[in-house]
Amino acid sequence: MLQRSPEVSSAESRRSEPRPAVNPKPEAPSRPPAKEGKPAPAPPPAEKRDALVVTDHRTGKTYELPIRDGTIRAVDLRQIKISTDDFGLLSYDPGFANTASCRSRITFIDGEKGILRYRGYPIEELAERSNYLETAYLLLRGELPTAPQLEQWTFDIHHHLLLHENIKKLIEGFRYDAHPMGMLVSALAALSTFYPDAKQIDDPASRDLQFYRLIGKLITLAAYSYRHSRGLPYVYPDSDLSYTGNFLNMTFRMTELRYRPHPVLEKALNVLFVLHADHEQNCSTNAMRSVGSSRVDPYSAIAAATAALYGPLHGGANEAVLKMLKEIGAKDRVPEFIQKVKRGDCRLMGFGHRVYKNYDPRARIIKQIADEVFEVRGRNPLLDIALELERIALEDRYFVDRKLYPNVDFYSGLIYQSIGFPVDMFPVLFAIPRTSGWLAQWEEMLLDPDQKIARPRQVYEGSEERRFLPIEDRSAPS
Ligand code: ACO
Repeated sequence: MLQRSPEVSSAESRRSEPRPAVNPKPEAPSRPPAKEGKPAPAPPPAEKRDALVVTDHRTGKTYELPIRDGTIRAVDLRQIKISTDDFGLLSYDPGFANTASCRSRITFIDGEKGILRYRGYPIEELAERSNYLETAYLLLRGELPTAPQLEQWTFDIHHHLLLHENIKKLIEGFRYDAHPMGMLVSALAALSTFYPDAKQIDDPASRDLQFYRLIGKLITLAAYSYRHSRGLPYVYPDSDLSYTGNFLNMTFRMTELRYRPHPVLEKALNVLFVLHADHEQNCSTNAMRSVGSSRVDPYSAIAAATAALYGPLHGGANEAVLKMLKEIGAKDRVPEFIQKVKRGDCRLMGFGHRVYKNYDPRARIIKQIADEVFEVRGRNPLLDIALELERIALEDRYFVDRKLYPNVDFYSGLIYQSIGFPVDMFPVLFAIPRTSGWLAQWEEMLLDPDQKIARPRQVYEGSEERRFLPIEDRSAPS
């Protein structure tokens, strides 16, 4: 029988020292309907304390689970058993819809109110007053840099823009029509073989060096993957240019002696990079933390995170938005397309978000910089279709009831396209700035004493034990 004396038990004693608060949960979790049958006896009046009292009707036992920062610990459920050999109660949460996998001090999101902050700073202020490298410093170091700190940080990253020449050969090995994101994933994984010192993940100096290398080399890898798909010669970085200026240089320079990025485009890219730098526990960040929890080097973990970002429901969404806008083709075909979405034939790409149930604050900022870019490059003809889609969707009950608003990807693709990037570069443009967020989250995971190798449980639904049949005795299932 259970070796637990009182019916009320607590796991609080296993807790370590106070930890930073997780983000408050904006949404009340949905609850299953009450089971039919005898009504549960009214609970005895309890004094007010941060605890959840659970009665298991299978055994009649009652348990008290401590509540901390709006969470219970899933392992506290394991004490709830029907017999000693019972494994204990698990929580079932596909897609982590209601599970906090970590405590974090990096990014705060309130999806109901449409708030996004990095290290406490509102995204709107960072987009207006910071630049990408300063924001990357903030994410990784926790504070905004002083002027000398920023100068050193910028120097250290610019010092690592160059790639080993063998990486160029690796990229040359891809077919002319290889997707740049596939090339990026492979090249990032390959970088781990160039820097075996990166395995020293417990050494802060080694981690710093990988931060400089990864943030620096990302723009060079991204530019090379683009040049390869165009059959253009690779361009080396120019030490007089900014981070985003250099990226534009390595991507678009043709025969001019010196490439001078257009200041409006350089700034627009900077803002887009700030907006995309982190977004707490999304699919790719979860991949970074999960793969990193095996204590692999950061290049291999970033390759995994980049692969997660490649998917159309995540970083591939802005590419999907452009394809969708092209398919719709004209403003007057928007209502017909909306009907298709409502019938469930397809999704309105660039709409909806797991966390935001309000206008994505990044989408608001992007809409503003789109105007500045269109002034320089001319109005993107797909913009009118996008505006019409947004107008109709924001009034339509289907979207209103489901709290579906434009997300960061709805307008970013139009800007990227106007700057001159082909659609298959869009997820690459997302991966460049997200690298700093992934690295900040990875380091936080490594330094968190609560963290272990990521290893979820499952509810097994397969066959019971059965005998192996020799092949001649088997028949095909009908
Ligand atoms: N178009 C039409 N209907 C939608 C959309 C959409 N874009 N998004 C959600 N819905 C509907 C679903 O069909 C569902 O309806 P139902 O309740 O009638 O079944 C309801 O809204 C809830 O949708 P879920 O899929 O449960 O929401 P979830 O939080 O799992 O999905 C996601 C979030 C994946 C972002 C989803 O909204 C989507 O697919 N959007 C389009 C792709 C996209 O823009 N992704 C980029 C996200 S931002 C980023 O990664 C940077």
